[in-house]
Amino acid sequence: MRLFRSLTRAGCRLGSSHSIPLATLAVCLVVPSLRAQAPQDSDAAMHRFVAGLMAKMTLAEKIGQMSQIARHAPPVISHEESVRREQVGSFLFMRDPQEIDRLQHIAVEETRLHIPLVFGFDVVHGYRTIYPIPLAMAASWDPSVAEMAQHMAAREASAVGVRFAFGPMVDIARDARWGRIMEGAGEDPYLGSKMAAAEVIGFQGKKLGAPDSIMASVKHFAGYGATSGGRDYDESEISDNLLWNLYLPPFHAAEQAGAETFMAAYMNLNGVPASANAWLLNDVLRKQWGFKGFVVSDWETVPNLVTHGYAADAADAAARAVNAGVDMEMTSHDYLNYLEADVKSGKVSAATIDTAVRRILEAKYKLGLFQHPYAPEGAAERELVSPEQRHAAKLAAERTAVLLRNENGALPLKRDVRSIAVVGALADSKADTMGSWSLAGHYDDTVTILEGLRAKVGSSVEVRFARGVELERGNDSIFDPQFASPKPTLITQQQKDAAFAEAISTIKRSDVAVLVMGELQSMNGERASRESLDLPGDQERLLEAAVATGKPVVLVLLAGRPLTIPWASQHVPAILDAWYPGTEGGNAVADLLFGDANPGGKLPVTWPRSVGQEPLYYNPTLSQIPNDRDTMYWDGSNAPLYPFGYGLSYSKITVGGLKLSDEYLHAGGSLKATVTLHNESGVAGDQVVQLYVHQRAGLSARPVRELKGFERVTLQPGETRAVTIPVNAADLRYWSASDHGWHEGTGTFDVWVGDSSVATEHATFEEKP
Ligand code: BGC
Repeated sequence: MRLFRSLTRAGCRLGSSHSIPLATLAVCLVVPSLRAQAPQDSDAAMHRFVAGLMAKMTLAEKIGQMSQIARHAPPVISHEESVRREQVGSFLFMRDPQEIDRLQHIAVEETRLHIPLVFGFDVVHGYRTIYPIPLAMAASWDPSVAEMAQHMAAREASAVGVRFAFGPMVDIARDARWGRIMEGAGEDPYLGSKMAAAEVIGFQGKKLGAPDSIMASVKHFAGYGATSGGRDYDESEISDNLLWNLYLPPFHAAEQAGAETFMAAYMNLNGVPASANAWLLNDVLRKQWGFKGFVVSDWETVPNLVTHGYAADAADAAARAVNAGVDMEMTSHDYLNYLEADVKSGKVSAATIDTAVRRILEAKYKLGLFQHPYAPEGAAERELVSPEQRHAAKLAAERTAVLLRNENGALPLKRDVRSIAVVGALADSKADTMGSWSLAGHYDDTVTILEGLRAKVGSSVEVRFARGVELERGNDSIFDPQFASPKPTLITQQQKDAAFAEAISTIKRSDVAVLVMGELQSMNGERASRESLDLPGDQERLLEAAVATGKPVVLVLLAGRPLTIPWASQHVPAILDAWYPGTEGGNAVADLLFGDANPGGKLPVTWPRSVGQEPLYYNPTLSQIPNDRDTMYWDGSNAPLYPFGYGLSYSKITVGGLKLSDEYLHAGGSLKATVTLHNESGVAGDQVVQLYVHQRAGLSARPVRELKGFERVTLQPGETRAVTIPVNAADLRYWSASDHGWHEGTGTFDVWVGDSSVATEHATFEEKP
């Protein structure tokens, strides 16, 4: 965690070498902080400025500020004209710096009020330089990696004039069938909260206003991760218990970290559409949490209020959304078309419009747009895919990979290997190295695993590539053909059989086989739910045939969700989950495979054995026979394939000797849990120390375990080190459905510390009021 904080403070620029050792990088990775130059204006000055401006605005101009228009969904009039007529406050999906600059000049110079536009984009895991997907970031168990990556993304985005990121996505997801699980931090509210806060700070800095800061939009508020059956956009029925204790905490953490905007979700939450849910947006977000920024709808969620069977027509939809607290409408034009009439008819008050506009103008003010509306001259050329960005992306990819299996030291690959069979179409696919939501990324910047391995071993080792099997999504993804995986080249059965046979013969002729398998990037993300979590297509058969050759086989997974690979987990000697590692993914994976980087990530989500177990998570409550849970299914095991928090490394770092600093924890206080780590191996590496608690008796049924602390540490060969994790009473607070209130955790607690959610080092303490 501390590593990246110190990186962001260090002071030297990186050269162009791609193989800088971690230690050197730790000293040299620079994130120059322009944030020191942020305007120091007081809130009072901002309020005066915005009030003065609003006093001059017509109702139509105010509604214009509340409208966000999509680049590729132009309204009846051109973008230029809508800017001139002040019918737009924000654009989304503009990428071209010249176009952004041109429209901003029109807004600032050719309109009556000179109000700058704010340009929004899905800066999900990088802008032009693509970083590992958010689920991978969570697998680093290192919030400072997430903070660093989002800061680097903010530097690129702001360099082209984009100052509004649609992220972080902080939806807790317990069901891997949901394709958007890749965009969040997984299943746990504590890990999710740490990642959420880190990402917000990465985007915004400590205070908005520096030229390289961009506003975060925390999404999707709230409960989208619980859509029924993992089907995207279906309704979410979430008990109050789960809402308060599981789904809302990461949103609250992001709000506390200073997020300037929130995005309302698509679905119904317990019967009320999230984009017209006054309880969520006004009572919880604003009144209880004190959020002061603005809320943007999701894509067309305002007109969709009619689809929900909630609003009577578009005018009613606009009124319901704005009255519930949605300040800006994304893409659709119901605000533009109907809000004026809604105000005239009294359905919406002028004060409601003023409140929304004030929030939007204040956000623009905080960003410094009134003083500096344009991206700094030459910033895009300097920043986009700079060597510094590449180094940061590679380091992030190395820190996010999870080693799932490594029998008899199958990895790292031996230096004396003479030939490597690289098998699987994903090994040579730029799009599938980048992952979904890489919309400003360029294929040409990206290093695939095949390219990374070739570059690493040079001409002394023969790297033989065979596609083996290709994958195809059954229906179009919402991003095709804008951002697409390569089209299949194997069409007939004869071609497919020949490619399969060629892959096996390539493996037979080589010293070792690296099979790159998983999912196309388009099988993840929005509208990408699955009814199976198996390796798609013919990959499993190829994997089994590869192992049957008797050659050493390494499986590298590219995927954005857990996969059901029980056979592989027993028979494939080494499995490395690289998720979607991004622009520098191929170089990172090559270093990981050869041991020049040591995997240290841990799973942020439970891996089931079979899809029928979903949703499967480590922190349920029990009702009976607690020791017999694994026989719950008569036709299968309830045990996970890999538990939450699990991951190996090339080092062997034990965690033992748990000691608590006190047997009592007093309300509002904290105690310390100390364990001793020992690196028994001759390889420097990382361990993620994880602390779980269980309250034995509460005012509600209490989960079997809950993560309440963690730290990723690096140990040198042979090193022994004490690691202390605080247990804070504040983190043990929970909401109880018995009296609909928050409670300190009182009574006896079990605490476990170890290297995964099945940690066995155990102690107890008492929490006293
Ligand atoms: C997604 C959002 C995204 C928006 C703009 C929507 O479909 O749900 O997450 O930010 O599109 O791309």
